[in-house]
Amino acid sequence: MSDANRSMLKNALVLGLFAVVTVGVVALVHQFTAQRIDDAQREARGRALLELLPAGSYDNHPLDSQVEAFDPKLLGRNEPAPAFVARRQGQATAVILQATAPDGYSGSIKLLVGVTAEGRLLGVRVVAHKETPGLGDKIELGKSDWLHGFDGRSLNDPGDSGWRVKKDGGQFDQFAGATVTPRAVVKATHKALQYFDAHKGELLAPAAQPAAGESHE
Ligand SMILES: Cc1cc2nc3c(=O)[nH]c(=O)nc-3n(C[C@H](O)[C@H](O)[C@H](O)COP(=O)(O)O)c2cc1C
Repeated sequence: MSDANRSMLKNALVLGLFAVVTVGVVALVHQFTAQRIDDAQREARGRALLELLPAGSYDNHPLDSQVEAFDPKLLGRNEPAPAFVARRQGQATAVILQATAPDGYSGSIKLLVGVTAEGRLLGVRVVAHKETPGLGDKIELGKSDWLHGFDGRSLNDPGDSGWRVKKDGGQFDQFAGATVTPRAVVKATHKALQYFDAHKGELLAPAAQPAAGESHE
C-alpha cells in the first residue's frame, strides 16, 4: 500500500470512529434527557393530583388506587391511562381522570380532572402544554386563576350549550387574543365529565377485596 493510500485509510478510520462516538454520545444524552422529562412530568402529575383532593377526603393512597380508563373520543388519548380513585373508609369519594385536549394552539394539552363521587368538579389542572407564553399559558394556575372557573361545576351545570367559551355563547371566559387554548380546555373538561358519567359505576366500585384465605401481608 502506498503512503497516500495508508494515510487515506487512517483518516477514514479516524473519521469513522469519530462518527460512532458522536452518535453514541447524542443517543446517551437523548436517553438521559427523555428520562428526566418523563420523571419531571410524573412528579408534577403526582403533586397536582393530590393537590386536587381536599384534605380529609381520602385515607387511601390515590396514586396507587387505579382504574384503567380508555375512550379516545372522551378522554382524548389513544392509549389507556389510569384514573386515580380517592377512598375514605373503603368508599370512593373522588376520581381523578387524565384527559388530553388534542386541539390546543400548539398541540395537546394534558389535564387532570378531579371529580367528586357526586359528579362535581374538584378542579382541573394542566400538567403539560406547549401554548404560547403570555397568550395561551394563562391555563397555568401560576399565571392566572382561569382554571378555578371549573371548580364546583358538573355535567349539568352549566348545560351542554354553556360548556363553551363566552365568545362561542358559553359560560367560560376566553383570554384576550387567545380563544383557541381555553376553547380546547373547556371542551376536554366537558368530555371528561361525560366520561365520568358514563363510567362512574366502574370508577367508583369498591376496591377489590383479597380473595378468601388470601394473606393481607
Ligand atoms: C404567534 C402566535 C401565537 C399564538 N398563540 C396562541 C395561543 O397559545 N393560544 C391561543 O388561544 N391563541 C394563540 N394565538 C392566537 C390565535 O391564532 C387566535 O387568533 C386566537 O386564539 C383567537 O381565536 P378565534 O379567532 O378562534 O377566536 C396566537 C397567535 C399568534 C400569531
